[in-house]
Amino acid sequence: MDVKDAVVVITGGGSGLGAASAQEFSRHGARAVLIDLPSSPAPDVLKTLERDGMFTPADVTSEAQVSEAIANAIAKFGSIHVLINCAGIAIGERTLGRQGPASLKRFSKVIEVNLIGTFNVTRLAAAEMAKNQPNQDGERGVIINTASVAAFEGQIGQAAYSASKGGVVAMTLPIARDLASIGVRVCTIAPGTFETPMFATLTEAAREALKANIPFPRRLGKASEYAMLARHIVENPMLNGETIRLDGALRMPPK
Ligand SMILES: NC(=O)c1ccc[n+]([C@@H]2O[C@H](COP(=O)([O-])OP(=O)(O)OC[C@H]3O[C@@H](n4cnc5c(N)ncnc54)[C@H](O)[C@@H]3O)[C@@H](O)[C@H]2O)c1
Repeated sequence: MDVKDAVVVITGGGSGLGAASAQEFSRHGARAVLIDLPSSPAPDVLKTLERDGMFTPADVTSEAQVSEAIANAIAKFGSIHVLINCAGIAIGERTLGRQGPASLKRFSKVIEVNLIGTFNVTRLAAAEMAKNQPNQDGERGVIINTASVAAFEGQIGQAAYSASKGGVVAMTLPIARDLASIGVRVCTIAPGTFETPMFATLTEAAREALKANIPFPRRLGKASEYAMLARHIVENPMLNGETIRLDGALRMPPK
Protein backbone atom coordinates (compact mmCIF):
# COMPACT_ATOMS: atom_id res chain seq x y z
CA MET A 1 0.00 0.00 0.00
CA ASP A 2 1.24 3.48 -0.84
CA VAL A 3 2.19 5.57 2.15
CA LYS A 4 1.74 8.83 0.29
CA ASP A 5 -1.66 10.37 1.12
CA ALA A 6 -2.57 7.44 3.40
CA VAL A 7 -4.31 8.24 6.68
CA VAL A 8 -2.34 6.53 9.43
CA VAL A 9 -3.74 6.19 12.94
CA ILE A 10 -1.04 5.70 15.55
CA THR A 11 -1.88 4.85 19.15
CA GLY A 12 0.79 5.89 21.61
CA GLY A 13 1.70 8.41 18.92
CA GLY A 14 2.73 10.95 21.51
CA SER A 15 5.97 9.24 22.48
CA GLY A 16 8.75 6.83 21.56
CA LEU A 17 8.07 4.32 18.79
CA GLY A 18 4.65 5.80 17.99
CA ALA A 19 5.99 9.35 17.68
CA ALA A 20 8.84 8.18 15.43
CA SER A 21 6.31 6.34 13.24
CA ALA A 22 4.19 9.47 12.92
CA GLN A 23 7.28 11.40 11.80
CA GLU A 24 8.38 8.69 9.34
CA PHE A 25 4.96 8.32 7.71
CA SER A 26 4.42 12.06 7.61
CA ARG A 27 7.83 12.57 5.97
CA HIS A 28 6.66 10.16 3.25
CA GLY A 29 3.43 12.02 2.61
CA ALA A 30 0.94 10.39 4.99
CA ARG A 31 -1.50 12.16 7.32
CA ALA A 32 -0.90 10.97 10.90
CA VAL A 33 -3.67 10.73 13.48
CA LEU A 34 -2.20 10.48 16.96
CA ILE A 35 -4.26 8.70 19.60
CA ASP A 36 -2.79 8.96 23.07
CA LEU A 37 -3.69 9.94 26.62
CA PRO A 38 -4.60 13.62 27.13
CA SER A 39 -1.54 14.03 29.35
CA SER A 40 0.87 12.75 26.68
CA PRO A 41 3.25 15.00 24.70
CA ALA A 42 1.30 14.28 21.47
CA PRO A 43 0.68 18.04 20.81
CA ASP A 44 4.47 18.54 20.66
CA VAL A 45 4.86 15.59 18.28
CA LEU A 46 2.14 17.02 16.05
CA LYS A 47 4.22 20.20 15.61
CA THR A 48 7.14 18.14 14.25
CA LEU A 49 5.10 16.50 11.45
CA GLU A 50 5.81 17.44 7.86
CA ARG A 51 2.22 16.95 6.68
CA ASP A 52 -1.11 17.78 8.25
CA GLY A 53 -2.07 15.50 11.10
CA MET A 54 -4.16 15.56 14.25
CA PHE A 55 -4.13 14.57 17.89
CA THR A 56 -7.35 13.10 19.19
CA PRO A 57 -6.92 12.02 22.83
CA ALA A 58 -8.27 8.66 23.97
CA ASP A 59 -7.52 5.83 26.34
CA VAL A 60 -7.15 2.73 24.14
CA THR A 61 -9.04 0.63 26.69
CA SER A 62 -12.21 2.73 26.37
CA GLU A 63 -14.75 1.74 23.72
CA ALA A 64 -16.41 5.16 23.82
CA GLN A 65 -13.19 7.21 23.70
CA VAL A 66 -11.65 5.20 20.85
CA SER A 67 -14.93 5.30 18.87
CA GLU A 68 -14.93 9.07 19.25
CA ALA A 69 -11.27 9.36 18.24
CA ILE A 70 -11.87 7.24 15.14
CA ALA A 71 -14.92 9.35 14.30
CA ASN A 72 -12.77 12.50 14.66
CA ALA A 73 -10.19 11.04 12.26
CA ILE A 74 -12.90 10.21 9.71
CA ALA A 75 -14.44 13.67 10.08
CA LYS A 76 -11.09 15.31 9.32
CA PHE A 77 -9.55 12.97 6.74
CA GLY A 78 -12.44 10.85 5.40
CA SER A 79 -10.92 7.39 5.85
CA ILE A 80 -8.31 5.31 7.67
CA HIS A 81 -5.79 3.21 5.74
CA VAL A 82 -3.22 2.20 8.34
CA LEU A 83 -3.34 1.55 12.08
CA ILE A 84 -0.17 1.26 14.15
CA ASN A 85 -0.83 0.07 17.68
CA CYS A 86 2.01 1.44 19.82
CA ALA A 87 0.22 2.39 23.06
CA GLY A 88 1.55 0.25 25.86
CA ILE A 89 2.74 0.13 29.43
CA ALA A 90 5.41 -1.91 31.18
CA ILE A 91 4.86 -2.60 34.87
CA GLY A 92 7.29 -5.12 36.33
CA GLU A 93 6.48 -7.27 39.35
CA ARG A 94 7.55 -10.72 40.50
CA THR A 95 4.83 -13.33 40.85
CA LEU A 96 5.84 -13.67 44.47
CA GLY A 97 7.85 -10.81 45.88
CA ARG A 98 9.12 -9.71 49.29
CA GLN A 99 5.75 -8.00 49.92
CA GLY A 100 3.83 -11.18 49.01
CA PRO A 101 1.91 -12.24 45.92
CA ALA A 102 1.85 -9.88 42.93
CA SER A 103 -1.02 -7.40 42.64
CA LEU A 104 -3.82 -8.82 40.50
CA LYS A 105 -4.93 -5.28 39.77
CA ARG A 106 -1.56 -4.40 38.22
CA PHE A 107 -1.53 -7.65 36.22
CA SER A 108 -5.00 -6.88 34.86
CA LYS A 109 -4.04 -3.30 34.02
CA VAL A 110 -1.12 -4.40 31.81
CA ILE A 111 -3.33 -6.92 29.98
CA GLU A 112 -6.05 -4.32 29.61
CA VAL A 113 -3.84 -1.67 28.01
CA ASN A 114 -1.43 -3.81 25.96
CA LEU A 115 -3.70 -6.63 24.80
CA ILE A 116 -7.32 -5.54 25.13
CA GLY A 117 -6.48 -1.96 24.13
CA THR A 118 -4.76 -3.22 20.97
CA PHE A 119 -7.80 -5.33 20.07
CA ASN A 120 -10.20 -2.50 20.86
CA VAL A 121 -8.57 -0.05 18.43
CA THR A 122 -8.01 -2.79 15.84
CA ARG A 123 -11.66 -3.81 15.64
CA LEU A 124 -12.91 -0.21 15.43
CA ALA A 125 -10.32 0.84 12.83
CA ALA A 126 -11.00 -2.31 10.77
CA ALA A 127 -14.66 -1.34 10.52
CA GLU A 128 -13.60 1.92 8.87
CA MET A 129 -11.00 0.25 6.62
CA ALA A 130 -13.73 -2.06 5.30
CA LYS A 131 -15.37 1.02 3.72
CA ASN A 132 -12.25 1.94 1.67
CA GLN A 133 -12.01 1.43 -2.07
CA PRO A 134 -9.48 -1.41 -2.59
CA ASN A 135 -6.20 -0.51 -4.34
CA GLN A 136 -4.85 -2.44 -7.36
CA ASP A 137 -3.75 -5.29 -5.02
CA GLY A 138 -7.19 -5.46 -3.41
CA GLU A 139 -5.86 -3.85 -0.23
CA ARG A 140 -8.10 -1.74 1.98
CA GLY A 141 -5.81 -1.36 4.96
CA VAL A 142 -2.83 -2.47 7.03
CA ILE A 143 -2.68 -2.98 10.79
CA ILE A 144 0.62 -3.15 12.68
CA ASN A 145 0.76 -4.23 16.31
CA THR A 146 3.64 -3.84 18.71
CA ALA A 147 4.57 -6.85 20.82
CA SER A 148 8.03 -7.30 22.37
CA VAL A 149 10.73 -9.93 22.53
CA ALA A 150 9.30 -10.41 26.04
CA ALA A 151 6.49 -12.29 24.30
CA PHE A 152 9.08 -15.05 23.75
CA GLU A 153 11.70 -14.59 26.49
CA GLY A 154 10.03 -12.78 29.35
CA GLN A 155 12.40 -11.82 32.13
CA ILE A 156 11.98 -12.01 35.88
CA GLY A 157 9.12 -9.70 36.84
CA GLN A 158 7.60 -9.71 33.35
CA ALA A 159 4.73 -12.18 33.78
CA ALA A 160 2.05 -9.58 33.02
CA TYR A 161 3.99 -7.78 30.28
CA SER A 162 4.96 -11.07 28.57
CA ALA A 163 1.41 -12.41 28.80
CA SER A 164 0.07 -9.21 27.23
CA LYS A 165 2.62 -9.23 24.42
CA GLY A 166 2.30 -13.01 23.91
CA GLY A 167 -1.41 -12.34 23.44
CA VAL A 168 -0.66 -9.72 20.79
CA VAL A 169 1.57 -12.21 18.93
CA ALA A 170 -1.04 -14.98 19.24
CA MET A 171 -3.89 -12.88 17.88
CA THR A 172 -1.91 -11.61 14.87
CA LEU A 173 -2.68 -14.60 12.62
CA PRO A 174 -6.36 -15.01 13.54
CA ILE A 175 -7.00 -11.29 13.01
CA ALA A 176 -5.15 -11.44 9.67
CA ARG A 177 -7.40 -14.37 8.73
CA ASP A 178 -10.51 -12.53 9.95
CA LEU A 179 -9.69 -9.44 7.89
CA ALA A 180 -8.36 -11.17 4.76
CA SER A 181 -11.81 -11.07 3.15
CA ILE A 182 -11.80 -7.25 3.31
CA GLY A 183 -8.19 -6.93 2.11
CA VAL A 184 -6.65 -5.77 5.38
CA ARG A 185 -3.22 -7.14 6.33
CA VAL A 186 -2.08 -7.53 9.93
CA CYS A 187 1.51 -7.83 11.15
CA THR A 188 3.23 -7.44 14.49
CA ILE A 189 6.65 -6.01 15.28
CA ALA A 190 8.39 -7.51 18.32
CA PRO A 191 11.07 -4.97 19.30
CA GLY A 192 14.08 -5.79 21.44
CA THR A 193 15.37 -2.86 23.49
CA PHE A 194 14.78 0.59 21.98
CA GLU A 195 15.86 4.03 23.12
CA THR A 196 12.52 5.62 24.10
CA PRO A 197 11.07 7.37 27.16
CA MET A 198 10.09 3.89 28.42
CA PHE A 199 13.81 3.42 29.15
CA ALA A 200 14.53 7.01 30.17
CA THR A 201 14.68 6.20 33.87
CA LEU A 202 17.39 3.55 33.45
CA THR A 203 20.79 4.19 34.99
CA GLU A 204 23.88 4.15 32.77
CA ALA A 205 24.88 0.79 34.34
CA ALA A 206 21.49 -0.76 33.52
CA ARG A 207 21.73 0.63 29.98
CA GLU A 208 25.20 -0.91 29.53
CA ALA A 209 23.90 -4.25 30.84
CA LEU A 210 21.09 -4.18 28.30
CA LYS A 211 23.49 -3.44 25.46
CA ALA A 212 25.84 -6.24 26.52
CA ASN A 213 23.14 -8.82 25.70
CA ILE A 214 22.69 -7.63 22.13
CA PRO A 215 24.98 -9.52 19.68
CA PHE A 216 24.97 -6.88 16.92
CA PRO A 217 24.58 -3.96 16.69
CA ARG A 218 25.58 -3.68 20.35
CA ARG A 219 23.37 -0.72 21.15
CA LEU A 220 19.76 0.09 21.88
CA GLY A 221 17.54 0.34 18.83
CA LYS A 222 16.52 3.73 17.50
CA ALA A 223 12.82 4.53 17.33
CA SER A 224 13.39 5.53 13.68
CA GLU A 225 14.45 1.92 12.97
CA TYR A 226 11.11 0.67 14.27
CA ALA A 227 9.38 3.28 12.08
CA MET A 228 11.34 2.13 9.00
CA LEU A 229 10.05 -1.42 9.47
CA ALA A 230 6.50 -0.20 10.04
CA ARG A 231 6.65 1.68 6.73
CA HIS A 232 8.07 -1.38 4.96
CA ILE A 233 5.22 -3.54 6.27
CA VAL A 234 2.72 -1.08 4.84
CA GLU A 235 4.51 -1.02 1.49
CA ASN A 236 5.10 -4.79 1.08
CA PRO A 237 1.86 -6.55 0.06
CA MET A 238 3.14 -10.06 0.89
CA LEU A 239 3.72 -9.38 4.58
CA ASN A 240 0.68 -10.64 6.46
CA GLY A 241 -0.13 -12.62 9.61
CA GLU A 242 3.49 -12.51 10.76
CA THR A 243 5.39 -11.29 13.81
CA ILE A 244 8.80 -9.83 12.99
CA ARG A 245 11.47 -9.55 15.65
CA LEU A 246 13.50 -6.34 15.47
CA ASP A 247 16.20 -6.91 18.03
CA GLY A 248 19.81 -7.23 16.75
CA ALA A 249 19.65 -11.00 17.56
CA LEU A 250 18.92 -10.28 21.23
CA ARG A 251 17.62 -13.23 23.25
CA MET A 252 16.68 -11.95 26.69
CA PRO A 253 18.28 -13.71 29.66
CA PRO A 254 16.25 -14.31 32.86
CA LYS A 255 17.29 -10.88 34.20
N1 LIG B 1 11.07 0.78 23.99
C1 LIG B 1 11.30 -0.51 23.89
O1 LIG B 1 12.42 -0.98 24.02
C2 LIG B 1 10.17 -1.47 23.61
C3 LIG B 1 10.52 -2.81 23.46
C4 LIG B 1 9.52 -3.73 23.18
C5 LIG B 1 8.23 -3.30 23.04
N2 LIG B 1 7.91 -2.00 23.20
C6 LIG B 1 6.51 -1.63 23.05
O2 LIG B 1 6.42 -0.57 22.11
C7 LIG B 1 5.29 0.24 22.40
C8 LIG B 1 5.73 1.69 22.47
O3 LIG B 1 6.67 1.81 23.52
P1 LIG B 1 7.61 3.07 23.72
O4 LIG B 1 8.94 2.54 24.12
O5 LIG B 1 7.48 3.97 22.56
O6 LIG B 1 6.94 3.66 25.04
P2 LIG B 1 6.54 5.13 25.46
O7 LIG B 1 6.23 5.04 26.91
O8 LIG B 1 7.54 6.12 24.96
O9 LIG B 1 5.19 5.38 24.63
C9 LIG B 1 4.00 4.71 24.94
C10 LIG B 1 2.85 5.65 24.67
O10 LIG B 1 1.63 4.94 24.95
C11 LIG B 1 0.74 5.83 25.58
N3 LIG B 1 -0.25 5.09 26.37
C12 LIG B 1 -0.05 4.35 27.49
N4 LIG B 1 -1.21 3.88 27.94
C13 LIG B 1 -2.18 4.32 27.09
C14 LIG B 1 -3.58 4.16 27.03
N5 LIG B 1 -4.25 3.45 27.95
N6 LIG B 1 -4.26 4.76 26.02
C15 LIG B 1 -3.60 5.50 25.09
N7 LIG B 1 -2.27 5.68 25.09
C16 LIG B 1 -1.57 5.09 26.07
C17 LIG B 1 1.64 6.68 26.48
O11 LIG B 1 0.99 7.89 26.86
C18 LIG B 1 2.85 6.90 25.59
O12 LIG B 1 2.73 8.07 24.82
C19 LIG B 1 4.71 -0.29 23.72
O13 LIG B 1 3.62 -1.14 23.43
C20 LIG B 1 5.86 -1.08 24.31
O14 LIG B 1 5.41 -2.12 25.14
C21 LIG B 1 8.86 -1.06 23.48
